[in-house]
Amino acid sequence: MKQSLYIAFEGIEGSGKSTHVRFTEEFLKAKGVSFITTFEPGATPLGKRLREMILQENMDPFTELLLYIADRKEHIKEIVKPAINKGMWVISDRCFLSTLAYQGYGRGLNIKLIEKLNEIATEGIVPNLIILLDLDVESALKRCKPTDRIERESLEFHKKVRKGYLEEAQKRKNVIIINSSLPKEEVKKKIIEILSNLTDQY
Ligand code: TMP
Repeated sequence: MKQSLYIAFEGIEGSGKSTHVRFTEEFLKAKGVSFITTFEPGATPLGKRLREMILQENMDPFTELLLYIADRKEHIKEIVKPAINKGMWVISDRCFLSTLAYQGYGRGLNIKLIEKLNEIATEGIVPNLIILLDLDVESALKRCKPTDRIERESLEFHKKVRKGYLEEAQKRKNVIIINSSLPKEEVKKKIIEILSNLTDQY
């Protein structure tokens, strides 16, 4: 059976994740790879309702953490695991690393606790590769119009989130950081290079 790969795109708001997920879809389609594209939060029916609550209602940071974790549990169980079991590639817009960056570094919640909750929610199913699109917060925020309460958070909050991503990336072997302040086509080229190496082994 063909080997499945789980790849997640990560980064702050305006880092270009959605654009590069779309390019990745086009590339994999052309290569004939069997894959699904998904995202967190909100990819399952229950997750969709959780997403609306998280992004629209004011709540305690710990409640927010638990709702992201609940969404992840459903996402892994209902979407990621079944696709992996069928030998498909999974391309996800966000994964567990978002919770460490946003709720851990952004909100200041306990990192060890988040790691434990992530472990429970993911059942140990974590991306083989995380592509972290990194750029400075000021430029990133200029690229997107805030539509929800997390996007409307302060510059300071988003700076803490970026710092979190970079620190957590250093701790892991499976995170590749790509400078997303480069022109879109150059970022795309770098990502396609990485994907080409992976599809050649496929
Ligand atoms: P999106 O804009 O990428 O769809 O994600 C929705 C928001 O949720 C975004 O502001 C990042 C935030 N988020 C967290 O704060 N923690 C998480 O664990 C995840 C997955 C997303």
